[in-house]
Amino acid sequence: MTWAQADVVDVLLDQHRQVKTLLAEVREASGDARRRAFDDLVRLLAVHEVAEEEVVHPVARDAIDNGTAIVDDRLAEEDEAKHALAELHEMGVDHAEFDERFARLAHSVTRHAEQEESREFRVLRQRLGAAQLEGMRGAVKAAEDVAPTRPHPGIGESAPANMLAGPPLAVFDRIRDAVRDWRNR
Ligand SMILES: [Fe+2]
Ligand SMILES: [Fe+2]
Repeated sequence: MTWAQADVVDVLLDQHRQVKTLLAEVREASGDARRRAFDDLVRLLAVHEVAEEEVVHPVARDAIDNGTAIVDDRLAEEDEAKHALAELHEMGVDHAEFDERFARLAHSVTRHAEQEESREFRVLRQRLGAAQLEGMRGAVKAAEDVAPTRPHPGIGESAPANMLAGPPLAVFDRIRDAVRDWRNR
């Protein structure tokens, strides 16, 4: 799959797979490697959840049956995960309670993604036209431009990546601003 062919659902599903990979990496790594994997996870979740919150969930609210209740549940889960990431960042990867707390987050994030896939994305793909699905992909692209979630060939650690290794709530806010700018253009 390339960006040229992908619609927003393809991109979000691909990010769910990347999230699972990073959750496993954080769980298995230690020290600096664990810290880097955790920062990567924060960036990827910020890009992913902010694009969903700003562009995908609002459309789903109207487009799917029982959309309000389904989307409200997902938003509550996203808010909880964001605050759990902030707590884990504050705690630090070497803290005695990190493993247990991170395992709880990993479980909730995985379940959240499954719920989106079965109750939201599948229906969006049935009900929305190809043009709308492709248009929404722009939100994810705008978010990824601020915080690249995969290595760009020929460039080492990117400046934005370094700047975005900070506190999770600040990373989420920075990306939300970029997605809102994209939407207002
Ligand atoms: Fe989500
Ligand atoms: Fe998601």
